[in-house]
This record gives sequence, structure tokens and C-alpha cells, in this order.
Amino acid sequence: IKTIGILTSGGDAPGMNAAIRAVVRTALANGIAVKGIRRGYSGLLEEDIVDMDAKSVADIIQRGGTILYTARCKEFMTKEGQDKGAEICRKHGIDGLVVIGGDGSFQGAARLAERGINTVALPGTIDLDIACTDYTIGFDTAVNTAMESIDKVRDTSTSHERCSIIEVMGRNAGYIALWCGIANGAEDILITERYDHDEQRIINNIIEKRKVGKKHHIIVNAEGIGDSYGLAKRIEDATGMESRATIIGHIQRGGSPTCKDRVYASTMGAISVDLLCQGESNRVVGYRDGKFVNYDIQEALAMTKDVDQYMFEMARKLSR
Ligand code: F6P
Repeated sequence: IKTIGILTSGGDAPGMNAAIRAVVRTALANGIAVKGIRRGYSGLLEEDIVDMDAKSVADIIQRGGTILYTARCKEFMTKEGQDKGAEICRKHGIDGLVVIGGDGSFQGAARLAERGINTVALPGTIDLDIACTDYTIGFDTAVNTAMESIDKVRDTSTSHERCSIIEVMGRNAGYIALWCGIANGAEDILITERYDHDEQRIINNIIEKRKVGKKHHIIVNAEGIGDSYGLAKRIEDATGMESRATIIGHIQRGGSPTCKDRVYASTMGAISVDLLCQGESNRVVGYRDGKFVNYDIQEALAMTKDVDQYMFEMARKLSR
């Protein structure tokens, strides 16, 4: 490998910069040149490609977002787009490519690998919804940001003796909701993976907890379920408890990465370069059962995972 390209794709996630820094500096330490591709696969197709040196990644490990910018690219889902992308890599001498993003970004990396570009993908998403790994870059920071926000809502919720429905991100996955639900001691957690569409149960739960003297009622609602404002209104009508909805939103995607996100993202970045140096291609780096691992991209994309049932049941018990 002579030149490694690096891009971030899909939703940004805190820790992506730490991974970029690690890729650049590990490659340089191995005598490999690095080119940054801006705005993901869109930037690749537009040849928005810049040379990177050790200084270009100085002072970024602590920053949220991605210095390479990111985008979601429809054109790259077509055969023509993929052919063009591989051709552009060759034109710029990019013989290894590190892609940081989610499942959609991995597909792109697999298509480039089929076209002779050595690729390694890193899981970068706050949603934790990548089956081959127990850790994704950005989840730890996002879940801590959401947790701190929910603590704040809880203060005012208690003062006013209200029910608060707090909606967290995660697309169709409930990991952020479940972790916050536990960490914030929520009275209820609604996640698509376990949702029974039984609003009467939610209402009865509020009535029961009011009877035992709870001053607030915190419901952490996953984005995949949504309708937080509607739910707040229906709860208020049914229980008489004043209710408010808060959608935390993109605050969860920004901010300085936690120590864990910085360290794990750095490690994954370094591993991606090691893999390319060993002649590997079409791989995804993950973290499973306490170890950094890597898989064939197709194998990784075929995997499935689910929220932890024990954690979900425990959350219910602890909220009594
Ligand atoms: O995948 C990360 C994520 O923040 C999801 O949790 C959310 O559903 C989505 O991206 C929001 O996307 P956008 O920033 O394009 O609105």
C-alpha cells in the first residue's frame, strides 16, 4: 500500500476525528501517504481530495464532528457511481481506503473492494446499530450527552410534578433509549425492539407510580417510536398529570468525544491501517466480547443483533 484514502460517510459521530487522526498518523509512521476525501462518497465522485500530513490532524482528537465533512450519497449506490469512484481512487493513486460510517457506508466499501480498491470500514454512528460490534464510534459520547440532558429535564419535571416524555435519537434502534432509561432511572422506556403498542399499560404505570408518591414520571422514548408530543397529550388527557415532550435532537450528535470514544476510535483507526498493510481488504473492524476484531464486510452485514433482554427487564424492575 502506497497511499491510503480516508472518508467519513453518513451521520457524523463524536470520535470520528480521533479515528481520522489515528489513520493519518499510523499510515505516516509506516511510510504511507494519506489523502483525505471530503464529504464522503459524494466528495470522492467530485474528486474533493486533499493531501494530509501529521499537522493536518493536529488539535482534532478532542473535537466533535468530522474535519472531513460527511454526506449521504445516492449516486454511489449505482453501479456507474461505484465504477467512477474506483476509477477516481486509481487516478489519485489511492490503493487503500478507510471508510468511517454505518451499514450504508460499508456497502460502498464492499463495492469498491470488488473493483480492486483495498478497503477497511470502521463503525461510526451514535446509534450502535451495527450488528458485528458491541461498540460504535460516537455512541458513548451521544449517550452521555443525552443522559445529562435528561437529568436536566428531570429537575424541572420534579419541581412541577409532571410527566416528561424525552425522545432520544437512534433511528430504528433503541440502544440510546435503553442506556439512558437505565442511567437516568426512567419510569418507562419505549424502544421499537420491545414496543407492545399498549398505551394503556403506560398510563396505568403512571397512575400506579403516582399512588406510591413519585413526583415525576420520566419516559425515555426512542426516535423509532416517535410521536412524543402526541403521547404527552394523550397521557395528560388520560391521567390528568401535566405532561411535556422534549426531543433532544442533534445535540446528541455533537460535542467533545468521551475518553472511551477517543481511545476506541484511535485504536480502530490504527487497526484499519495495520489491516491494509497486511494486505487485507473488504474488512470491518469491530469490538466484541472485550476484544477488537475484524470481519469480512458481507459477513458483517449479514449479522443481526438485538438489545440486551436482561438489561431491558432489569430497567423495568429498577424503575419501581
Ligand atoms: O444515524 C445517526 C442519526 O443521528 C440517527 O439517530 C437519526 O435518525 C439520523 O441520524 C438523523 O439524520 P439527519 O442528521 O440526517 O437528520
